[in-house]
Amino acid sequence: MERIILDCDPGHDDAVAIMLAANSPQLELLAVTTVAGNQTLENTRRNACNVLQWLGRDVPVYAGCDRPLVRAQQIAADIHGKTGLDGPVFPPRTKFPEAEHAVPFIIRTLMASDGDITMVTTGPMTNLAMALRLEPRIAEKIRRIVLMGGSYQNGNVTPAAEFNIYADAEAAHICFTAGRPITMVGLDVTRKVLCYSAVVDRMERIGTRASRLFVELMRFFCQTQKEVYGMEGGPLHDPLTIASLIDPTLLTTKPMNVRVELRSSDSYGRTNCDYYGYLGLPVTADVAVDVNVPRFWDIVEECLRRYEPEVTP
Ligand code: BDR
Ligand code: CA
Repeated sequence: MERIILDCDPGHDDAVAIMLAANSPQLELLAVTTVAGNQTLENTRRNACNVLQWLGRDVPVYAGCDRPLVRAQQIAADIHGKTGLDGPVFPPRTKFPEAEHAVPFIIRTLMASDGDITMVTTGPMTNLAMALRLEPRIAEKIRRIVLMGGSYQNGNVTPAAEFNIYADAEAAHICFTAGRPITMVGLDVTRKVLCYSAVVDRMERIGTRASRLFVELMRFFCQTQKEVYGMEGGPLHDPLTIASLIDPTLLTTKPMNVRVELRSSDSYGRTNCDYYGYLGLPVTADVAVDVNVPRFWDIVEECLRRYEPEVTP
């Protein structure tokens, strides 16, 4: 069983990542940590609690950094709405974040570990970067970093940059240069897992509480993806990270030298990936280049089925 901390900014696709992480026999979800990203920290921490409460999973939530390290804050309300998780109506809240800040929690947990914890990030990498700067010894305690972010092709917030990297490129740079094994699950593959209405119908037939949440989230998310990008199915970016831990054969990766662009104005936040190894520089990351799409949807379905059946009043 792989022990993980999921650092996220829910976010519709982050919420699905939480669903997979919180109920997969291959994974032990130690905590969900949240960061400002798709929405403000206040929204993302509440959203993480709402999702876990809906799922009936008693996983602690730690709220982390409320802004990027250097640049001005950037949110994605056009995709995720005013709350960051528009669509479902959540019941009155009974679950709240822990008092401890996510950064000391991450440091404390990694330092006490045997080096067996995987850090999964599906938002801006601010929390992990802060932790690495505050306590550099955690680097050797991280088993590996698996992130949703970046692209070796096009971006989605600028022609060059993907949202999670663009939102805090300095933080991403710190994480990419931490010297730990790192797998970049970028738009190159996440744009292949498109949540068409046939997928939403398939998950709706499952009839668990989790599948109900999935459907309500995806109806909103797919609509905004269509409005903003003209895409028929919403790309389900973040859960691919978790699914790739559940089934290590899911992604095809290629080792590359990856550098995060920090100085350019037009290309700030681009992940420059030396796909062909042309520069002859050391490999710094495994970059996902392909995904077994049917297998991904099977993993999502299997996970949603494991949740408790929906109780209709
Ligand atoms: C990433 O940005 C966010 O809007 C999503 O949650 C995902 O993590 C995709 O670029
Ligand atoms: Ca996210």
